Amino acid sequence: MTETADAQNPGRTDTSQMSALYPEMAGKVAIVTGAARGMGAAFAAGLATRGVNVLGADINEDLMVATADEITTTLAANSLAATPGRVVGARIDVTKADDHEALAQIALKEFGRIDFWINNAGIFPFGLVEDISPEQISAVLDVNVEGVLFGAQAAARHMVPGGAIVNMSSVSAVRNRRGRAAYCTSKAAVAHLTQSLAVELGDKGIRVNAIAPGYIDTEMTRWVQEDPVALANALDSVPLHRLGSPEEVFGPMLFLLSDSARYVTGHSIAVDGGSRHV
Ligand SMILES: NC(=O)c1ccc[n+]([C@@H]2O[C@H](COP(=O)([O-])OP(=O)(O)OC[C@H]3O[C@@H](n4cnc5c(N)ncnc54)[C@H](O)[C@@H]3O)[C@@H](O)[C@H]2O)c1
Repeated sequence: MTETADAQNPGRTDTSQMSALYPEMAGKVAIVTGAARGMGAAFAAGLATRGVNVLGADINEDLMVATADEITTTLAANSLAATPGRVVGARIDVTKADDHEALAQIALKEFGRIDFWINNAGIFPFGLVEDISPEQISAVLDVNVEGVLFGAQAAARHMVPGGAIVNMSSVSAVRNRRGRAAYCTSKAAVAHLTQSLAVELGDKGIRVNAIAPGYIDTEMTRWVQEDPVALANALDSVPLHRLGSPEEVFGPMLFLLSDSARYVTGHSIAVDGGSRHV
């Protein structure tokens, strides 16, 4: 990894690809939800660079297809990707269990197998405890928690033995933020659900882990990046004094999916610049 944090601009982060390769990944098949942008798009690109065929899915189908095309074009010019994987885009609403089954069927038809399932789609609504509406609470639990459970259920039905699921939790699972009670609750639920899934899906040889990012440079954190006071406050709680990049979350993701993590299950890896300790 190349470190390029800018002392004059600590919000700027490295977006270069991680150099770890994990050659055993080539030819495998991954499903990534919420892959139209942000971390999901970085996961899709990083996996395809290492020869993994990727079915990316998002509720924003147009952007998902455009992102899949862009990754394909970029890979054709990328020297790290000797034989890149294919990247296909599809629509999913992760709150619908049937959509996950349909996604699995697309992957099986396109690629013949499913090795990895990344439950990445998420929403981050603001609502103070006294104001938050029932609809807002339901929406965040539906997308962030049920979306993960439904994905894991479909994965369990169709994944090859030795497959791996990774769910996106957050530092918010263990740190509370004003106005984010529903979100924090949902991400704590994802961390716990990950353990429950690991206990049961271990019977099928499927590993289930989570990643708990801190402040990562995506649209989801644009509000922090565009407000100098909010950014300074945020960076005060990050021992590494900068935001992370999606590519820096991909490194631990790749490890969790890889054979190097074959005895790791039910775990959440923090990728937060140390912010859970402040
Ligand atoms: N960015 C951060 O700092 C951060 C920190 C901790 C955890 N996370 C988590 O990481 C994951 C990815 O975050 P990001 O920053 O890339 O977010 P993002 O907002 O850039 O991307 C999220 C994607 O999920 C999609 N999505 C939303 N609802 C959906 C639904 N019902 N069905 C299908 N797709 C849907 C969106 O269209 C979008 O493309 C999320 O689960 C988020 O909660 C992010």
